Amino acid sequence: MERMKLAFTKALAGALPGQEIVLERPRSGEMGDLAFPCFKAAKALGQNPAQLAKDLAAKLAVDGAEVVAAGPYLNLKLQPAVRARVLLEALLGDRPYGSAEPHGETVIVEYSSPNIAKLFTIGHLRSTMIGHAQAQVNKYLGCNVIRLNHLGDWGTQFGTLLAAYKHWAEAENPALEQDFPWAEEIPAKLRSPLYRLFQLYVRFHAAEEEDPALREEARDWFRRLEEGDPEARRLWSWFREISLQTFNRIYERLGVAFDHLEMGEAFYQDRLAPTLKRLEDAGILAEGQNGARIVDLEDVGIATPCLVQKGDGASIYATRDIAAALYRQEAFAFDRCIYVVGADQILHFQQIFAVMNKLDPWFAGRMIHTPFGMVNLPEGKMSTRKGNVIFLEDVLDEAVVRVTAIIDEKNPDLPGKARVAEMLGLGAVVFFNALNDRVKPITFTWDRVIALDGDTGPYVQYAHARILSVLRKAGGDWAERARPTAEPTPAAAVVPYGATLIPSDLAGLEDGPAQALLFELAGLPDALRTMARENMATALARQLLAVAKAFSGFYTNCPILWAENSDAVRDARLALCVATARALRQGLFLMGIQAPEEM
Ligand code: ARG
Repeated sequence: MERMKLAFTKALAGALPGQEIVLERPRSGEMGDLAFPCFKAAKALGQNPAQLAKDLAAKLAVDGAEVVAAGPYLNLKLQPAVRARVLLEALLGDRPYGSAEPHGETVIVEYSSPNIAKLFTIGHLRSTMIGHAQAQVNKYLGCNVIRLNHLGDWGTQFGTLLAAYKHWAEAENPALEQDFPWAEEIPAKLRSPLYRLFQLYVRFHAAEEEDPALREEARDWFRRLEEGDPEARRLWSWFREISLQTFNRIYERLGVAFDHLEMGEAFYQDRLAPTLKRLEDAGILAEGQNGARIVDLEDVGIATPCLVQKGDGASIYATRDIAAALYRQEAFAFDRCIYVVGADQILHFQQIFAVMNKLDPWFAGRMIHTPFGMVNLPEGKMSTRKGNVIFLEDVLDEAVVRVTAIIDEKNPDLPGKARVAEMLGLGAVVFFNALNDRVKPITFTWDRVIALDGDTGPYVQYAHARILSVLRKAGGDWAERARPTAEPTPAAAVVPYGATLIPSDLAGLEDGPAQALLFELAGLPDALRTMARENMATALARQLLAVAKAFSGFYTNCPILWAENSDAVRDARLALCVATARALRQGLFLMGIQAPEEM
């Protein structure tokens, strides 16, 4: 396809000297493979865009394709045989389809970042999987990616937790081994020290309403922690460990990994004083109310100043973010730093970015916040403070249970049923999350998440499994060609596939349904670029659905195994099957979804 793009661009550049040539993808394959919108060039030439398109269509010629005007667009329409050839070459070539060579750009993706002693909720899943997909796609497109988890392991909430532990756990339940008699009953699978920490947290917030002195106690404990009091430190590090055990179990289950899990908020403790000094030296530190210290941002249009130190000297979330940004500049010299954090923190990041720009213009344009909306369950909004949260592990388990019921009904003898159900259940939740990767809050309803025949992860996974079933029936080494040569790991963005030959006769791919599938496959590289540019996986999720649907059309309308009694037709169609399976599996993998071979 690159070859055709180049030829078309060259022809256009010849006819329109001095004009910038930017190509688009037409909305449907019937219109063509590449489109040149004539608006800009027509304006520069003082012409009507539709007329210019017509003139160019009459004048330009590209080998293997037709140049046609469609209103103000000039479309390049490949001959069916050429379309099949260029696409299969790209899909089955040496370079993973749509990927790019390393080009030295360094991108930090900061994601997940749950808080210690609070549970992992479905909201954290959004950050985790959006961030994971962003890390993957940037890697796939040749960036040097650094995956960070800004673990919430420091801050006044540890004062809360320490005070609560002292009050309600230390005497009776110091190892957090038993359930608290006063707490609501815990579902068996959630019983863990982390869950009990969480209950202490909830209890504290209920009690402080009645007894404001508790707040004072919590403040005092955080001060002791910041000053290095050994008892406070010991408990803190134990709370952290308890939490990480659970978080790591979830990361493993989701196939997510970080390059640095140790660089949480606590990592920046020693850098807070130098950070304040740096703000002071830059002349942007000011006195706020009650002895607090702030950076005023009115001059850059942000009415709320950035609070960097409390009146009692306690450090603040924002200060740790400023320290982290400075550290990352020094340690990674990044080109972009993407913060995958919910939309409720938009103001926070506006403030941080404004402070950084004041400190050093180097930061301008390098810091990106990619907000996402909260997940609503039909029961209502979630809040950790009250305790009515939906825990991620519960949601994942529920998805797996529901998928298992579907498998039991449709394919009860499926080998490795439990493993497949896990892939489909997680795939459903993660795909739903990606498809709705935007700032609007989303409502999670099981029907929309799981349906095998809807716009869901399992629908795409099903297309992949169906292809593998065709390939197995074809015999020879057909199925082998659609199997990775090794299990891909979370550290890699590429699913490794072996070299495979492209049939010399592709006439079997000239029918409409095969061409329609090729057209959707051609849209994947653009979708990857859109995904990286928009910092969300929606474009890829949509394109994978389009490919899966087009495959279904191809499968229903073009006989593959008994193709018109012709080995050449059969081989061409099987090669398209291999290419489609690989593309689907690679695309799902970038989003953090596995593709079973059978389901
Ligand atoms: N721990 C925070 C939370 O769960 C998110 C941290 C976001 N990252 C950052 N650099 N502030 O709300």
